[in-house]
Amino acid sequence: MKKICTVVGARPQFIKLAVVSRALRKQFNEVIIHTGQHYDYNMSDVFFEEMDIPHPDYNLGISGGTHGAMTGQMLIAIEEVLIKEQPDMLLVFGDTNSTMAAALAAVKLHIPVCHVEAGNRLGTYDNPEEVNRIVTDHVSSIHLVCTESGVDFLKKEGFSDSVHLVGDPMYDAFCYYSNHLSGQELDEIVDFDGNNVTIPNDFYYMTCHRQENTDTDEKLDAIFSAMEQLDAPVVYPVHPRNHQRAKQLATKNNYQNIILTQPVGYKASVALVNRAKKIVTDSGGLQREAFFAGKQCVTIFDYVAWPETMHNKCNQLAKPNKEDILKKINTPITFDSAYRPFGDGHSAEKIVSHIAAYFSE
Ligand code: UD1
Ligand code: UDP
Repeated sequence: MKKICTVVGARPQFIKLAVVSRALRKQFNEVIIHTGQHYDYNMSDVFFEEMDIPHPDYNLGISGGTHGAMTGQMLIAIEEVLIKEQPDMLLVFGDTNSTMAAALAAVKLHIPVCHVEAGNRLGTYDNPEEVNRIVTDHVSSIHLVCTESGVDFLKKEGFSDSVHLVGDPMYDAFCYYSNHLSGQELDEIVDFDGNNVTIPNDFYYMTCHRQENTDTDEKLDAIFSAMEQLDAPVVYPVHPRNHQRAKQLATKNNYQNIILTQPVGYKASVALVNRAKKIVTDSGGLQREAFFAGKQCVTIFDYVAWPETMHNKCNQLAKPNKEDILKKINTPITFDSAYRPFGDGHSAEKIVSHIAAYFSE
């Protein structure tokens, strides 16, 4: 049986791993390497537990620091594991520092790289993830792409035979877990003191963690001042990157309409998406999940990450500016339920069949 080393490190990768690993292990020997990039219980372990993901074979314990330091330490440590394990292929997801470090380590050892969620492009190196996705795609042997726009970007960069449209494993996970909720998920959400939070019947769901929006008070405060004006409370599970800043701003300005919580598990997040009135985010994953659930979304970002979600203004970009956010969130829209650009909810099987085909060619 061929051996595949899968490298993950960040929250959205655990979600993709959950569905892909389940399918992969029917045909391959999988070794999971967790870089340690995300390490808090509710940023890492909760996903492995809730989604029955096999325990990682390695946890490299590398997190924080500058992009260069984190990526460099990962490169060294992943190389050591790959030399020891001698896999037939490396599998990576998305665009984090863990993704790029793993891809670089593998290609230098002549291990073929399979990149899932290949082909996304914003068109700017100002975004740290753009560097990761371009480097990873350019050293990969198989490009497995979620949507048509990703195929187009890769073709423009000269890739052809290695590119396969498989749909989005985030859609697989969202479909599966939306049908496997107990109904109790929102009862377990806690605030930063560990106290249970009561989630109202009518609410907006917000996440905001991008370096671009959260590294200064000014932008996050502008976003909060828009949330304060909405006609229902806003549930905001805060990423550890900016929880201190979020708490300080909410206290200083006495915001009453924003419910700050600790990060929630995946099932609670799916429940929040499905029950929310509308969604405000800067997350690549959450803007797609809003679309999957047919919920209007405003993405606070300068660049289109998932063009398909922008269809009929279902997802609109906004500046981190109160008036712009409120204008976009109050735009009347209609969803076209026949438009299904993220596949059929079975991308994991397609991913595995392309990996198998690579070895049989
Ligand atoms: C990373 C990804 C981003 C992705 C996000 C998903 C890169 C460049 N960025 O950003 O694409 O959207 O993950 O959530 O890889 N921290 C904790 N506890 C944790 C995790 C992080 O305290 O469990 C702290 C870190 O120590 C660090 C900060 O949060 O100081 C930022 O973490 P980092 O992994 O550098 O970037 P993310 O913002 O999580
Ligand atoms: N998510 C979660 N708990 C939270 C916030 C988000 O489980 O407290 C899920 C969310 O449903 C989505 C994924 O995490 O599936 C998105 O990850 P994130 O926003 O961290 O990264 P990105 O998608 O921006 O790379």
